Amino acid sequence: MSRKILVTSALPYANGSIHLGHLVEYIQTDIWVRFQKMLGNTCYYVCADDTHGTPVMLRAEKEGITPEQLIDRVWHEHKADFEGFHVEFDHYGSTNSPETKEFAQAIYRKLKAAGLIEVRSVEQFYDPVKNMFLPDRFIKGECPKCHAKDQYGDNCEVCGSTYSPTELINPYSAVSGAQPERRNSDHYFFKLSADTCQQFLREWTRSGTLQPEAANKMQEWLGGEGESKLTDWDISRDAPYFGFEIPDAPGKYFYVWLDAPVGYMGSFKKLCDAKGINFDDYWKPGFDTELYHFIGKDILYFHALFWPAMLKHADFRTPTKLFAHGFLTVNGEKMSKSRGTFITADSYLKQGLNPEYLRYYYAAKLNGTMEDLDLSLEDFVAKVNSDLIGKYVNIASRCAGFVNKIFNGKIPLVRIGSIEDENGKRTAPNWSGLRGIIHSSEKIADAYNQRDFGKALRLIMALADETNRYIDEKEPWVVAKRALDNSAEYDNLADCCANALNAFRLLTLYLKPVLPMLAENVETFFNIPPLKWDDAQTLLSADHHINPYKHLMTRIDQKQIDAMVEANKQSLEPATDTHSPARHAEAQQHAIAPIAETISIDEFSKVDLRVAKIINAEHVEGAEKLLKLTLDIGEAQPRTVFAGIKSVYDPEKLKGRMTVMVANLAPRKMKFGLSEGMVLAASGDAPGLFILSPDDGAQPGMRIK
Ligand code: 2FM
Ligand code: ZN
Repeated sequence: MSRKILVTSALPYANGSIHLGHLVEYIQTDIWVRFQKMLGNTCYYVCADDTHGTPVMLRAEKEGITPEQLIDRVWHEHKADFEGFHVEFDHYGSTNSPETKEFAQAIYRKLKAAGLIEVRSVEQFYDPVKNMFLPDRFIKGECPKCHAKDQYGDNCEVCGSTYSPTELINPYSAVSGAQPERRNSDHYFFKLSADTCQQFLREWTRSGTLQPEAANKMQEWLGGEGESKLTDWDISRDAPYFGFEIPDAPGKYFYVWLDAPVGYMGSFKKLCDAKGINFDDYWKPGFDTELYHFIGKDILYFHALFWPAMLKHADFRTPTKLFAHGFLTVNGEKMSKSRGTFITADSYLKQGLNPEYLRYYYAAKLNGTMEDLDLSLEDFVAKVNSDLIGKYVNIASRCAGFVNKIFNGKIPLVRIGSIEDENGKRTAPNWSGLRGIIHSSEKIADAYNQRDFGKALRLIMALADETNRYIDEKEPWVVAKRALDNSAEYDNLADCCANALNAFRLLTLYLKPVLPMLAENVETFFNIPPLKWDDAQTLLSADHHINPYKHLMTRIDQKQIDAMVEANKQSLEPATDTHSPARHAEAQQHAIAPIAETISIDEFSKVDLRVAKIINAEHVEGAEKLLKLTLDIGEAQPRTVFAGIKSVYDPEKLKGRMTVMVANLAPRKMKFGLSEGMVLAASGDAPGLFILSPDDGAQPGMRIK
């Protein structure tokens, strides 16, 4: 029975480029959708740009354009990136659409009618220069715990502590640099703490809709029976805000996360209108349709709590399942702009790299769990070259030539598969390997269905290995020399080519969800209609005429990877954008920070300053600001110090340099390890951070007095 399925991927924000991290999700969703379509299921895949919120508003302002102009430009960029990677949406829309607005407002009205909306006054930081309330990420200041400067409003990068923006010392607006004021304003809340929400979510999150790891996380967030851990959700933001106005609440807008998932509905509605699909079949309760959201594990909270609770209380259906995945690391580390591993989709394509290399590599590493996925660039080159070129494409390139030269372009089905089943299908070729390939169809389909693409590809590659062994054994290149004047050898060559090319056709079919373009080229080569999953039970008919073989895929050249990484390296010059303290300086109108309270010489001499040689400097996985320094101060063991200088120093350039450290500072346990001292650096209100250097001749360990 054919299934009716609606699939979504998370909507990318309209204020940034698509990068290889995003593609983990879109590629995996696309593979799953293509597989469902090949099975003959009705499957729609929709997505949209997530357009609302303060960052889009401010970026448009900075560029001197309207938010609508900005999101329109980004929409075209995103669309081209997805097409470039063969991610084929049935519709790609925008949350800034009349459809999304209508659904968002309708859902809100239902929630309000159900008594689930409450208005409360909230005190927040307000930027008196920009005349706007500041989201947490637009407030910076000194960490209340470790006193690191320029930390974001909700957590400290240096010591890892979390706090509320009001706890920051000397907070400043990252938009204007002004000192923010605290102001009150009415906010609209979705009452998630209401019994009806808690009870519903408790049941829903346990009903098999979530992967086991996600379900556990939810239990943590929901708390035990009788406990009520959920707090109400603030769904409004004050003007100025780029978004949808809340009905009957002038100057109040829906928070971007309220209308983002509603964008799934809005985008699907557009598809329904264009194609005559009945929207309600997929969004109202009681139909036999299925709804799946592919998401990153970081947005589970929104999709497993807020979203189903909203849908439920607005009389819509809830998702059949959420498929959450992990994050991408590159070469084992968080993607990094300075290392050139924050790779945009566009820069990958511009290097002329085949998008199907990446589709294959990601698929090989995906297993349907929430584990992180590492793109090791070296392994990427090795795996793609070995599996795709060395194993799979190799089968065709080893045999296709003979068909064209010796068999006039016809698949010579001499003896291989003449047994037909009751449906007239050929299922019993004379090579057991080919029978095995046919019989693997179900196992491979199961793996795809479970989103264990890694398993599917392992099964397929084992079949490719077996086919290559068969060709090795049959040595068609030797047999071919005698085939024209020896009929037994002619038949042997015919058998080998027919078996191997039929194997190649089936492997192509199995790989098609992952490699749709390659499959299309193979279909052209074989002169056959688009392969469907059912075709795995058939062979090419005898004397089927194929087209001349053209090489299907080239090896990756390591140089292309190196060039791509180089192209993605961003300058380490300090930024002078709206987030830098430069504007802070403008607003504060003073040249230097006030001089601290006077101390005695005794007090000063308590600080043991030493000349240190930086013997190693490296990036710290997961840290946005820190470098890990190894310092020689003449002791038996070098010291480890974490310094917040990553934005301005290339670790390679620091190695071998002399500097100054506080050697008797109590060791501090940081998120990333123990820091045994502190390196001194100068900074002012203007951007920039400058570590100190002693004059030539100073030796490691010398005391500074
Ligand atoms: O995390 C993000 O990138 C969001 N833009 C995802 C939104 S998904 C959905 F809810 F719209
Ligand atoms: Zn801190």
